[in-house]
Amino acid sequence: MTSLPEGYTIRRVTEQDFHDLVEILKVLTVVGNVTQTRFKELVSYWNSCKVSEQVYQYNPMVIVDKTGRVVATGNIFIERKVIRNFGLCGHIEDIAVSKNEQGKNLGRIIIEKLTEIAKNSGCYKVILDCDSKNIGFYEKCGYKRKGVQMESRF
Ligand code: ACO
Repeated sequence: MTSLPEGYTIRRVTEQDFHDLVEILKVLTVVGNVTQTRFKELVSYWNSCKVSEQVYQYNPMVIVDKTGRVVATGNIFIERKVIRNFGLCGHIEDIAVSKNEQGKNLGRIIIEKLTEIAKNSGCYKVILDCDSKNIGFYEKCGYKRKGVQMESRF
């Protein structure tokens, strides 16, 4: 596991992360007009969904700097399937590192943490979709190209 910069910590998202998290996610895509009340409801929903006693279905994580500001985020959704003997598959989603904190291994640390959560949860694989400009980043994190991404957008 890659070490965090001194004073930085990694933990699960809490209700208090609303403002920082919304700002960081803007480096990834359009966030929209989200309210703090709805965010609190979402965090509560994430915390209530369990795959088993020990395994959360949603695992939203943040890296926090020494001042307490959220500087990176990512989530892994754990899906229970029929195939592979009711196997578990991890889906990595919504990876973002604050613009002025990029290049400090924080993206790599988020991916390592989410991958570890998948492994400890008993997943048989972890998958993600990404833009071609980020292939090199995920390869540096130990991921390999497999198949193609397709979508039908509404
Ligand atoms: N292409 C190739 N290599 C890269 C890229 C890239 N786009 N970005 C980082 N790397 C390399 C780094 O040089 C480093 O290599 P090294 O070990 O040789 O030094 C290694 O990957 C790890 O880099 P980090 O410092 O951990 O990368 P960073 O913290 O900047 O995070 C990220 C990378 C997440 C892509 C960040 O730039 C970002 O937030 N971008 C905007 C949002 C985004 O595109 N998120 C991913 C969406 S895909 C998804 O969510 C599943």
